[in-house]
Amino acid sequence: MNKKFVSLTMAALLGFSLAACGSGGDSAGDADTAGDAKQEESAGASSDLANKDKPLVWFNRQPSNSSTGELDMSALSFNDDTYYVGFDANQGAELQGTMVKDYLEANIEKIDRNGDGVIGYVLAIGDIGHNDSIARTRGIRKALGTGVEKDGDINSEPVGTNTDGSASAVQDGSIEAGGKKYVVRELASQEMKNSVGATWDAATAGNAIGTWSSSFGEEIDVVVSNNDGMGMSMFNAWSKDNDVPTFGYDANNDAVAAIADGYGGTISQHADVQAYLTLRVLRNALDGVDVDTGIGTADEAGNVLSEDVYVYKADERSYYALNVAVTAENYEEFTDSTKVYEPVSAQLDESSHATKKVWLDIYNASDNFLSSTYQPLLQNYDDLLNLDIEYIGGDGQTESNITNRLGNPGQYDAFAINMVKTDNAASYTALLNQ
Ligand code: BGC
Repeated sequence: MNKKFVSLTMAALLGFSLAACGSGGDSAGDADTAGDAKQEESAGASSDLANKDKPLVWFNRQPSNSSTGELDMSALSFNDDTYYVGFDANQGAELQGTMVKDYLEANIEKIDRNGDGVIGYVLAIGDIGHNDSIARTRGIRKALGTGVEKDGDINSEPVGTNTDGSASAVQDGSIEAGGKKYVVRELASQEMKNSVGATWDAATAGNAIGTWSSSFGEEIDVVVSNNDGMGMSMFNAWSKDNDVPTFGYDANNDAVAAIADGYGGTISQHADVQAYLTLRVLRNALDGVDVDTGIGTADEAGNVLSEDVYVYKADERSYYALNVAVTAENYEEFTDSTKVYEPVSAQLDESSHATKKVWLDIYNASDNFLSSTYQPLLQNYDDLLNLDIEYIGGDGQTESNITNRLGNPGQYDAFAINMVKTDNAASYTALLNQ
């Protein structure tokens, strides 16, 4: 308690003195230009805190055990200024499941393509060890009645092929619509991992739908995916031409646009709110102000989030954005996924929020959601929050490919980390502890 108070006070004092000194005359608007970036680089970090005491935010991949999902609280509370930013995976998963079920019920007369009384779906799983992916698989199985219980929760394992309904990780569900009862069957599911180990792999999903459709294509009535990257790959490879509704997650621009061409729907995980929170918690710690500033409490520029777009769980040191379903009814409001969220779009004043250097990595530079939605949003907010960010793009497979590029943490004032594997937080904190 005492120790925490002392370090908070220190941070506050430091924040004040640093803010008063400014950081070499960068103006907020041009902090990203090449010349300024160079100047910043030679100047290095403007704080003389030890690396282990600098603000740290984990995002998108929550430090946790990849088999049990248990949170890694030592990583989440690495220092007093450590947080996680993601979204509410269970609320989103439930929404996705309900969105698919509602669609089936509303369109029942055209869903059962071969008229066999069985509504067959295939499921693309992103990463069997990622909380988001596990939650989405469970959400679909729960809504469609195909889930079976394992260790007190719905089994989220892939089934491979299950055209005869004999797999033990799922069961046949049922749905009543249009005065008729249908069986619902998970015909096939697999983790979309490529040969070198990249997960959530869109190309692998495109190949999988090719294999599945050539052996039991007429039985596939619905395609479901743990994200839009894989969903769009399957849509473009097969389901669009065959009029088979396909559902994803993330509300990436291309997926939202495809709703006009028959893509069934997607979920917005409010990446605009997440990207803001990711950088805002760092900004607040760097300024030595209460972490709620510009979040639940308006800052001096008027930035504030309302309670219907995020929750903060203090015991998990985690901010979670809330999800929204995007369907044919409302997709026109979601056509630009990289637009900053209006209530938190006001520029901070450089004189009281001096430019700071942040190291930030995206675990997989070719992940559709992170590269086409999340990073562009971060790049919009970094200007508004006066953060000079060095963006590192990983290969999606090896942690060392990223950690190797955190060779000199002393150059930065704060860190934002997106891990390859949720178990690997210690590979980063070890570098900060040195
Ligand atoms: C997104 C996926 C993405 C993954 C990366 C998830 O939250 O929905 O699209 O591939 O994060 O970690």
